[in-house]
Formats: sequence, structure tokens, C-alpha cells
Amino acid sequence: MKAKLTLNKSNIIAQIDDRLYGSFIEHLGRAVYGGIYQPGQKTADDMGFRKDVLDLVRKLNVPIVRYPGGNFVSGYNWEDGTGPKEKRPRKLELAWSTIETNQVGIDEFQEWAKRADTDIMMAVNLGTRGADEARQLVEYCNLDTDTYYADLRRKNGFEKPFGIKLWCLGNEMDGPWQICHLTAQEYARKACEAAKVMKWTDPSIELVACGSSHKDMPTFGEWERTVLRECYENIDYISLHNYYGNRNDDTPGYLAQAVNMDAFIRTVADICDEIKAEKKSDKTVNLSFDEWNVWFHSNEQDKQIPRWSIAPHQLEDIYNFEDALVVGSLLITLINHSDRVKIACLAQLVNVIAPIMTNDDGCWLQTIFYPFMHASVYGRGKAVSIDIACDTYDTEELKKVPYVTAAATENEAGEITVFAVNRSLEDSAKIEGNGFDGMKLISHTVLNCDDMKAVNSYEDPEHIVPAELPVADKVVLPAHSWNVLRYTKA
Ligand code: AHR
Repeated sequence: MKAKLTLNKSNIIAQIDDRLYGSFIEHLGRAVYGGIYQPGQKTADDMGFRKDVLDLVRKLNVPIVRYPGGNFVSGYNWEDGTGPKEKRPRKLELAWSTIETNQVGIDEFQEWAKRADTDIMMAVNLGTRGADEARQLVEYCNLDTDTYYADLRRKNGFEKPFGIKLWCLGNEMDGPWQICHLTAQEYARKACEAAKVMKWTDPSIELVACGSSHKDMPTFGEWERTVLRECYENIDYISLHNYYGNRNDDTPGYLAQAVNMDAFIRTVADICDEIKAEKKSDKTVNLSFDEWNVWFHSNEQDKQIPRWSIAPHQLEDIYNFEDALVVGSLLITLINHSDRVKIACLAQLVNVIAPIMTNDDGCWLQTIFYPFMHASVYGRGKAVSIDIACDTYDTEELKKVPYVTAAATENEAGEITVFAVNRSLEDSAKIEGNGFDGMKLISHTVLNCDDMKAVNSYEDPEHIVPAELPVADKVVLPAHSWNVLRYTKA
């Protein structure tokens, strides 16, 4: 197969917001307990944080981590995770039918974030709670005043405010599974009032309102319109969530899923602009795709988990090679929409639908770790428009899916990185590059495997790892592969 990639260097999509490569840690399964935090584990530091995990999170170069949920946040009392650990309550956690010990809360997580060189995207509970507790949490985290919640933080040992700049107004409040699910109008009012008092408490914060939990929600569209009409001037972003999976074992159809992400982003951006026009506003509301990933492998086994377990093996998808190609193509889509998508969070980071897995002895990397790391490390700077002319295929759901999908970025030194997925299961793609004059290819990294279902494991952690291809005059993307092509000025 031939594919023509035309790099339009003068056509810059956007300066990519670093937060496009965010991730997510929820109090769920073994993300926190046994994941980032495990006192007594051989690599645990003075606060019980696993240094082996911290090293890997730093390697991923994650700029921001959403916390503490997810569905969890809609029943969470943030005060439970502050102050002396021996006084913290054990509570029933209704989102995931587990027991929460509260040994980690914002007091600890803000310290973990510092050690991981990352920022926090903090979610407030708009399920069982509301504006009052949300503004109190903003005060606890961000204020230097001589007032009750700022003083409480000092009493708990933290003189300086945590300085959390990005906040989510609840989580997936459109979903009936959410603790205290709301209708669009109910959520819109609640979010609007919470937003006002949170910003009155700290005007420097940015706020993300809940959009739809996924593109096929029955209320998708009207939910966004209702929320934006009510909250437009008080919020900065609206969220998108979507998980993808190969439930019917239809690999060509599965590899095409990024086309759905693309349509989802375009539709939400259009709705934001429709409400902007309706309101005659100068302000643009941008998008926060703050939960995205593959999630389906663990669905059946999770039904067996006994209720009221503590940190069970939950949502522990083991990702195969084709999942890595899907994650790569989703990253390409996010980069190509970086003019509107300013924040995105790979959900999640450790053990729970995650690139990093742990056991008591150590860590291992899932297949999806690699495309995420490549994009996070090399995909900073500007997103440059790239056109692709190549053969297409039809799936049960979609017509004319291009075999090759790609995105390009340019860093401050003028180096170009092209990320490309070849979706063809049979054919390699010979690339004809246009617009690369004056550029020299310096490396071609590829993730490829004959077995689409092959996985990594603790016992065989390097079964699927990236390889360097020889730098050739003619670039060829192998069949079913993730590729990172790096160019410098000749
Ligand atoms: O990431 C797992 C769950 O998926 C989150 O808790 C929820 O927000 C979403 O449905």
C-alpha cells in the first residue's frame, strides 16, 4: 500500500497544551493502595509511596493527574482523607462496593504529585455534596488566609497552600450509575452555583463542567447545551469521557475507533460554539477529554469481586498489542484536535485500566505504556497539520476508514515528530512524504507484533517493546504498527 503524507508546516493547528498528556488516579481497586502507596513495600519511601511507581510515572512525563475520582468522588467526604491517619474513618464506598480506609487523601496525594513532578486536577463531590463543601476544599487547598479551612490545613502540617489550579465540577453526573445522579437542569444549576463560590474563593482556578459520560448517552447533546447555557460564564472547559473496546473481536472495526473519538470531539466543540453564538459571548469554552482509554477486558471478572473488599484487583485490564494501536490512534486524534482539546487524561495510571502494573515485588509495563510515553515525551510544542492520502476500508459501523492515521508535532528546536498508525492487518505502507524538505529523518521507532493479542506480564515484561528500525530513504510503516518518526533540520 502507498500512503502520501503531506506536512503543512505553515499550517499550525495549535500550541499543544501540555495537559493533553494527563492521567488519572481514582480511589478504586489497587490504584492508590498497592499502586502508588504501599508502606512496607521494598521501594516505599518515608511516606509509603512506591518509588518504583514514581520512577515510571516520571518516565511517562505526566503533567497533570486527575484525583480522587471518577465515580468515587460522588460519595466522598474530602475531610476523611486529612489529619492524623489513626483518626481517619473506614467507610463504605458505594461507587465500587468496597471499603475505603482513607489512609491516603489530599494531604498525602499533593505530596505524591510533587514527588511525581506532576500537578493535580482535583474533582469535587457534586453527588452527595455541593457548593459548600466544594468551596471549603478550595480554601483548604489554596488559601493563605487566617480562616477555618486554611488553618485546618496548617494544623495538619501544611503551612503552604497546595496551589491546585484545575478543578472538576463533579464526575459523570449524567450517568444513572453515579451516586446522586442528576438531570441536566439539576446538574447545571448545582454546577453553576458551585463554580461561582469556588471561583469567589480562589479566582485563579479553572473549572471543568461535566459533559456526557460517553458519546452514546441518550442525553448526549442536550446535556451539553443545558449545562453550557447555565454555566457558560463560570466555567472554562466541558468534559468528554469515552472508553473503547473490542467486545465482538472485530479487529479492523476496533482499530477504527479513533474515528468515533474524532466525531465526538467535533460535535462537542460545535455545541460549545453554538452556545457561544447564542450568548453572543467573546469567551470560548474548550474541551477536557478527562477520561479516555480502552476498557473492556476486565468487565466479566469484576463481577466476581466480593462486596466490601479493600483495594481488590478491580478494572485490571491486561492490554494486548492491538489495544496499544488503538491507544496510539486515539492519541493521534487528540493531537490533531489540540486547538480545542486542552486537557486529556488517560484513565487511569496505575493498576486500574493502566499502563503501569504492580505486584508486591515490582512493576511491569503494559503495551499501552509505549504509545502514551512516546506522545507525552515527543508530542509537545506545536501540532502541525498533516494530510494523508491512502487506501480506506469499511467496517460494520464506519465507511472509508483510512488505513493510515497520523499527527505531527514541532518542538522548540524545530524538530518534527510524526506519529502514525498503520491499521492494515496485511499490508505495510510505503510513505511518500511531501513538505519534509530541509528535514532529515533521524529515527524510526516502531511497536509491532505478529500476534495482535500478545500481552506483557510480570513474568514476561518485554514481550512487546518498541524497536528502532534502520533509518532508510524510503519510510515503510509495517502492517499493524505504531510508528514514531523523528526529523531534525538537515
Ligand atoms: O475510570 C473508571 C470509571 O469510568 C470512572 O470512575 C468513571 O468516571 C467512569 O465511568
